[in-house]
Amino acid sequence: MTQLKADHLHKDFGGLTALVDVTLEVKSGERRAIIGPNGAGKTTFFKLLAGEHIPTSGRVYFDGQDITHLPVHARANLGLSHTFQRNNLFFDLTVFENVRLAVQHHRRLAWQMFKSAGSYQAINEETEKILSQLGLSDHRQQLARHLAYGQQRSLEVALALATEPRALLLDEPTAGMSPAETAEMAKFIESLPRSLTMLIVEHDMDVVFSLADRITALHYGQVIAEGSPEEVRSNPMVQEIYLGTQSAVKRHL
Ligand SMILES: Nc1ncnc2c1ncn2[C@@H]1O[C@H](COP(=O)(O)OP(=O)(O)OP(=O)(O)O)[C@@H](O)[C@H]1O
Ligand SMILES: [Mg+2]
Repeated sequence: MTQLKADHLHKDFGGLTALVDVTLEVKSGERRAIIGPNGAGKTTFFKLLAGEHIPTSGRVYFDGQDITHLPVHARANLGLSHTFQRNNLFFDLTVFENVRLAVQHHRRLAWQMFKSAGSYQAINEETEKILSQLGLSDHRQQLARHLAYGQQRSLEVALALATEPRALLLDEPTAGMSPAETAEMAKFIESLPRSLTMLIVEHDMDVVFSLADRITALHYGQVIAEGSPEEVRSNPMVQEIYLGTQSAVKRHL
C-alpha cells in the first residue's frame, strides 16, 4: 500500500527551479534512498514532504490524505517525522531533557497537567528506551552542546523517533560522522522496525546500497532513475553523473 506520495511536485525559489515535476510513491514499510549530487534538490524534496516548504505546484499525500498544505506539526501528528541536515537541538538542555521534551510533546502532556507519577514515569521510561537504542544512555546528563558531532546527529534521530512515527525522513543522518560513527548509525537505522517507512538522503553509498529497498536518483531537480539498487546502479545516466566524481559510488557501480 502506498504510504507517501509526491504528485508532480515543483518548487521554485525566486528565479531558481529546485524541483521539477517529481512524482514518487513509497510503499508502507519500504526503505527508499534518495541520491543525487550536491544541489540536486534532495533536501528541498524532503522539506516539501515534511511541510517546511510549500510546493509551487503539485501535491503530497500521506496514507491517501492530501497533506500538501498541512504544517509540520500536523504531519508529525499523522506519523510523518523527519530529521534535517542542520542541527535542531536544544543545546542548553541535557540529552535526557531533549528527548523527554519530544516524548512529552508527542503525548501532548504539559508539565502542569501531570497528575500521576505513572504518566511521569512512563515518559521517563520511553525516554530511556530511546536513548539506549541510540547508544546515548551514558550521555544522558550531558548538555546537547557538549556532545560530539556524531552524537548530536544521533540525538536528532532520537528526537524524531520520540514522536513514534510510521514514516521517517532522514536527511544525511551520517553527514560529518567519522567512519566508525557512520557504521554505528547505519547499524542503528538497519535495526529500526521493518514496519517503519523510511526515506533517506545519503551520500555514503555503502549505507545506501546496504539499506535501501529502492533508490531514486535526482539530478537538477528531476528524477533521472528509480528502481532496485541493482537497476539504479546500472543506469547509464547515474553512472555518467557519478563515475569519476565519487569513488565510493564508483566502487558500487
Ligand atoms: N531556501 C532556498 N532559497 C533559495 N534557493 C534554495 C533554497 N533552498 C535550496 N535552494 C537551492 O535549490 C537547489 C537544491 O538545493 P537542495 O538543498 O535541495 O539540494 P541537495 O540535493 O539537498 O544538496 P546537498 O547534497 O548539497 O545537500 C540548490 O540550487 C539550492 O541552492
Ligand atoms: Mg541537502
